[in-house]
Amino acid sequence: AQPKNNIINSDEWLVNRSMREQKNNHSGCVIWLTGLSGAGKTTIARYLEQKLFGDGYAVKILDGDNLRSGLNADLGFSEEDRKENIRRTAELAKAFVDTGFITIVSLITPKESFRELAKQIIGEKDFHLIYIDASLEECERRDVKGLYAKARRGEIKDFTGISARNTFEKPIDSKLILNTQETNVNACVFELYSFINTVSTFS
Ligand code: PPS
Ligand code: ADP
Ligand code: MG
Repeated sequence: AQPKNNIINSDEWLVNRSMREQKNNHSGCVIWLTGLSGAGKTTIARYLEQKLFGDGYAVKILDGDNLRSGLNADLGFSEEDRKENIRRTAELAKAFVDTGFITIVSLITPKESFRELAKQIIGEKDFHLIYIDASLEECERRDVKGLYAKARRGEIKDFTGISARNTFEKPIDSKLILNTQETNVNACVFELYSFINTVSTFS
């Protein structure tokens, strides 16, 4: 019997990923930054984007805080909502990779199962997990947005690292670990930039 819905695979479209990559002169990929709130994901993402953009790369940040004000505004911080947040963001990142972009995702992504889900959606070849590492004590000391203080006062209930039900599982198979207590911002960005040069080279 004839298939009812004649869906054409995106790699069979008349303009495909490899054509876009050729135009950009480099391949697309996802650089997925995982780590506690305050570890340094957004800071590193911003400087990295600036450096890559300056060098002519097509690059885009997908940051948790920004996505949660729009696409993911309906989601909170329960396990279920975080999973959906990560699923949607992974799908979006995949679309950016199909457009030939170096896509920097900065989401806490606290559970191994969430990171596995993201890897599965994006595809192992394009997915690069980077652990932005800082201890909970250090993140709480930084308390960039005052959220840890609020969580300690009980004003935010499901806060990562503070709530017993919302622990952060250290990644077991990240491609790179950037310890933001031992290494300054510039050096972290440079290390990540060097890593990207090994996975997405100008052709
Ligand atoms: S997750 O777990 O990956 O779905 O989280 P993410 O989408 O990255 O969102 C984290 C940002 O939301 C703010 N925020 C909270 N974080 C953790 N737990 C709770 N309960 C919470 N409530 C609000 C906070 O600004 C996080 O951003 P970062 O940049 O990590 O500090
Ligand atoms: P996150 O997005 O993971 O919540 P932010 O980037 O918002 O983290 O905050 C990280 C804080 O830590 C910033 O105030 C930043 O200046 C500081 N910081 C200190 N050292 C580093 C480093 N090596 N990399 C990134 N941020 C750092
Ligand atoms: Mg952030």
